[in-house]
Amino acid sequence: MALVTFSNPEHKDKTVYAVAGSHTETLLKLAKDNKIPVQFDCQDGECGHCLVHVKSIDKKDRMGSHLTAKERILLQELGKLNQDEIDELLTTDMPSEWRLACQMIVRDEDILVEY
Ligand code: FES
Repeated sequence: MALVTFSNPEHKDKTVYAVAGSHTETLLKLAKDNKIPVQFDCQDGECGHCLVHVKSIDKKDRMGSHLTAKERILLQELGKLNQDEIDELLTTDMPSEWRLACQMIVRDEDILVEY
């Protein structure tokens, strides 16, 4: 079970429980299920509307998961990551703080999601 806090300057912060480990529940699905107004359009990693900034609120390091191929392309197009940063994330196994909510699978860690 993970605690996911959604934060946006125009809305009250909301913390929800996520059932982690299903490998199918995306951050966007979690937001929609809890009526959190994260923007989205394509839901397929193509448009970038669901861009979010993710931070760990656990004491331990972020577990994260690798960016999907679609995220790598789109986050570069959006100017959030450059090729060097992507290469570093891939070689160091570090999670990216920029994610697409429709592509990010929720893991068993407590996170803060700024949208
Ligand atoms: S909704 Fe289009 S990239 Fe996520």
